[in-house]
Amino acid sequence: MKTLIAYAGKTGNTAKCARQLAIHLNNVTLVDLNAEQVNPADFEAIIIASPVYSHKFEPSVKNFIKTYLSILQDKPFAAFVTMVEYDTFNKVITREIPEALRNKAIAIENFGGEVNNLSPFGWHDKLIAKSMVKLESKKHPIEFLADAPQNFNEQLKKASWT
Ligand SMILES: Cc1cc2nc3c(=O)[nH]c(=O)nc-3n(C[C@H](O)[C@H](O)[C@H](O)COP(=O)(O)O)c2cc1C
Repeated sequence: MKTLIAYAGKTGNTAKCARQLAIHLNNVTLVDLNAEQVNPADFEAIIIASPVYSHKFEPSVKNFIKTYLSILQDKPFAAFVTMVEYDTFNKVITREIPEALRNKAIAIENFGGEVNNLSPFGWHDKLIAKSMVKLESKKHPIEFLADAPQNFNEQLKKASWT
C-alpha cells in the first residue's frame, strides 16, 4: 500500500522511530510536518507520529489531523507517539485524536522515548523536563519501548497493511 508516515518532533526521537518503522513497510513516504506540507489524499494509507510535549501533540501534527480529518477517516489509519509519562497515554490520545479517527485506527501505540537533548528548550521547559524525568524514572526506565514497534507492525500486518 502506498503509505504516508507523517511525523514531527523537536529532538529527533519521533523521526528515528518513523524511519525504523518505514523499513518494515513497502512503498512508504516519510514526511516531516515541521518541514514540509503533504496531502494525505495522495496516499492509500496513513500513519501519523508525534512526540508529546506538555501533554499535547506537536502543533504541526495536530493541524494535519484537523485539516485532513475527513480524508484520514476514509483510509487505513494508524498512529504512534513517543513520550515518557506513560500514565497519561490514554488521556493524551483521547484529547489529540478525534473519536471517529481513534475508533477506526488499526493501531495506536506508545513507543516510549528518551530525554537526552534539552538544547532546543528554554529554562522553564528544561526544569519541567528534568522533574518529569526524575519522577517517571521511579516508575520505568526512560527509554524507547523495545516491544512497541513490533507490536505496532503486527497490528498493521493483521490488517493486511504491507
Ligand atoms: C520540555 C519537555 C516536555 C515534555 N513533556 C512531556 C509530556 O507532557 N508528556 C510526556 O509523556 N512526555 C513529555 N516529554 C518527553 C517527550 O515526549 C519525549 O522525549 C519525546 O520522545 C520527544 O520526541 P522528539 O525527539 O521527536 O521531539 C517532554 C520532553 C521535554 C524535553
